[in-house]
Amino acid sequence: MEKRFEAKRIFVTGGGSGIGQATVTRLLYEGGWVIAADISQKGLQETIKIATELGVAQHLRTLEIDLSNELEIEQKLGSEIESIGGLDVVVNAAGILRAAHFHETTLELWNTLIKTNLTSTFLVTQKALPALLQSGKGVIINFSSTAANFAHPYFAAYAATKGGIQALTHAIAAEYASKGLRAVSIVPGGIQTGMTNEGSLKFPDGIDTSLFSKQVAALPGGLGSPHAVAAAIAMLASEDGRFITGTELRIDGGAHM
Ligand SMILES: NC(=O)c1ccc[n+]([C@@H]2O[C@H](COP(=O)([O-])OP(=O)(O)OC[C@H]3O[C@@H](n4cnc5c(N)ncnc54)[C@H](O)[C@@H]3O)[C@@H](O)[C@H]2O)c1
Repeated sequence: MEKRFEAKRIFVTGGGSGIGQATVTRLLYEGGWVIAADISQKGLQETIKIATELGVAQHLRTLEIDLSNELEIEQKLGSEIESIGGLDVVVNAAGILRAAHFHETTLELWNTLIKTNLTSTFLVTQKALPALLQSGKGVIINFSSTAANFAHPYFAAYAATKGGIQALTHAIAAEYASKGLRAVSIVPGGIQTGMTNEGSLKFPDGIDTSLFSKQVAALPGGLGSPHAVAAAIAMLASEDGRFITGTELRIDGGAHM
């Protein structure tokens, strides 16, 4: 495999599961120095185990952090970035998904999703920005969702966080392009991860399942692999993606063609 991230310093949130975890191992494989951050200690242990088995754990660090807590971001992030001597790439993959009828969506649920998905992306990116600018070719990969661009029932609050992330990413890309910084949103749909595992997502009673009929991958094989998303992130965050910024890449097996 090509080593597109040799000597690159990378911070990946949500690195303890799913797409974030696949991204951590992919970027380690390609020679990067990676900090995997997650709220789940168990998940981070698993990431270390996988990286060790693949023989790429040498340049892996882990950070247990609750990204919905602004104080933790303030206290822990700066020293982590310093510990690897700066930053070239940030991948904001951490997130949660909750389903509810819109009329039953509580303010508490709304605030939890906003804080965990959208505000954490804002805070991590803002904290990482000086180091990314100093790198001269910094890259931010943010995580949106097909829920942001297409009508996904019962996900109003989640979709709003993911739409916000796309808007935020556009503004960042425009403001800092002249300084060499790129910012792109990934728009996954139907990827097999902790988020979509059977039993992990609870729908409320009384949903109309026919409303999901358009969200099925056109490609055969069911849900997509997180490694397919990680491969796209590796392209976007590397020099191969050097002319790509301020936009989105949808990765959903053609579910929303
Ligand atoms: N799986 C899909 O089909 C799909 C579709 C669209 C968007 N996404 C997005 O992809 C990203 C990755 O999700 P995934 O599918 O790999 O799910 P996942 O549940 O496997 O991984 C999400 C990770 O985020 C971590 N996390 C959650 N809250 C956190 C917090 N407060 N602080 C720190 N870490 C926290 C979790 O512990 C977990 O390890 C998410 O932003 C998600 O919204 C996924």
